[in-house]
Formats: sequence, structure tokens, C-alpha cells
Amino acid sequence: MTHINDTTKWIGKESYYYDTISSTNTKARELAQKGCSHGTIILAEEQEAGVGRRGRSWSSSKGDGIYMSIVLRPDISPEQSPMLTLVTALAVAKAILTFSKASNVIPFIKWPNDIVLRGKKVCGILTELILQKNVIDYVVIGVGINVHNSYFPSEIADTATSLELELGHGVARERLVEQVLQEFEKCYALFLQAGDLQLLKEDYQKLSANKGREVCVLDPHGEYRGIAKGITDDGELVVETKEGTRLVSGGEVSVRGIYGYV
Ligand code: BTN
Repeated sequence: MTHINDTTKWIGKESYYYDTISSTNTKARELAQKGCSHGTIILAEEQEAGVGRRGRSWSSSKGDGIYMSIVLRPDISPEQSPMLTLVTALAVAKAILTFSKASNVIPFIKWPNDIVLRGKKVCGILTELILQKNVIDYVVIGVGINVHNSYFPSEIADTATSLELELGHGVARERLVEQVLQEFEKCYALFLQAGDLQLLKEDYQKLSANKGREVCVLDPHGEYRGIAKGITDDGELVVETKEGTRLVSGGEVSVRGIYGYV
């Protein structure tokens, strides 16, 4: 992948590229500890130990995907930080939309932060928060997007896809990275302006894969079902159950469609 060009205001001005790396998130934490600037990005062609959420790995074959981490030093409270994941998901979905419109394929966001194309996952986001005495020192947002992959390991073949598999045409990773970063700057500014998602909620919900659908909430304290109604200004998923309305926050909770992954 070549260097991103000068199309952003502040993000990616400090950037690092690696051919092979263990994980861009690990490298991002290392660089952040050494004082890298707000908006630093780390990109790799391949990850040998790509990390996913819930301790899973992230399939990161050479040259197939975008493996990127963003270092932020936001002036927000730790309680606001989970919203950054939704901000990023919206930015990635909007960026993908600029490439997928022509093929009439809409990227949807599976709350809180998976991007799906035709019901299969094309992007995952892993946010890591590093605190110093209850104040945010920095945040690492890892973004993995499957772009050129023509097949996936059997364990994920039923639920994973790539942009090119779904769109049927080539997608240049560097153009998509630029688009993601530009969209991120816009979404991030609106998030900071409001301090929550109220200025982004409408766009997020338009691209929601869950809204209006029956979901199964895999809460460690007990699974339950309901209809997803949208999100709150703080990014919680509103689920209407037989017993009443419940607000689901990220963390350990996972949401599945009742008929499968979405
Ligand atoms: C998920 O499980 O859905 C999150 C996947 C996040 C993968 C990305 S790829 C770039 C960054 N580096 C990592 O090791 N993980 C994230």
C-alpha cells in the first residue's frame, strides 16, 4: 500500500507503515507510550497476530485487507469512550458506501461496530482505552476491513466477506483508507461538538442492520430477545422486550439476529 496523500486535516499526519507486524493495535500502544501525536495512524500489509474482540483473532492475510490503528488523545471522560467505536463504525460505513453505491450494495452497521455487506461481516473495530488515574491517556482504535479476499478460513467462511466479493469490482485500499479518515474527521468533530452521538444518531440509524429487527441479546446474566428500536444519544441499543424497554451497552454483551449473525 502506498502512502495516503494529503487529504485530511489532522488525522494521519504522523503515520507508520509496516509490511509485516504482529498487530497494529500493539504497535499503536507502543508508539503512544513513546508520545506519538493525536491522530497517528499505523497501517500494515499483514498481521501475524491480529486481534479481534472478545479475545478472538483477526484473519489478516498479506495484502488482502486494511489493517489500521488510530491513536487518539481525546479530551473526554472514560464513560464517553465507548461512543468512539460507534463514531468509527459510522465513518467506515459511510466510506464504504462511496465505493458500494454503484453496485447498489449498502453497508449496514451491526450494533455496535461491525460493518456488514449482504449479511456478512466485512469490517471489525477494536477499541482499546488506556487510562492514567481515571483520565484517558490515549485510545487506540483498530480497524480491520476485508478488501481483496477471495475466500476465508473455514471457521469464518459463513459469516465473513470482503468488499470485492460483494461488489464484484476492484477497490483500491489506499483510496478507501483516505475516505475512512476523511469521514472519521467529520464524524469525530460532530461527536466532540455534542459530547455524545446526538448529531450522528440519525445517520447511524439509517445504516443500522438491527433497527426494527428481532435480536437476541447475549447478556452474561441471561439471554433475552426483543426488537431493536435504535440507539440512544449515548450509543446504547434500545431493545423492546415483552417485559419492557431495555438499554443495552457494549462491553460483554453481544447481539445476534435471531436467524443468524445479523
Ligand atoms: C472484531 O473482532 O470485530 C474487531 C477486529 C479488529 C481488527 C483490527 S485489524 C487492525 C487492528 N489490529 C488488530 O490486531 N486488530 C485491529
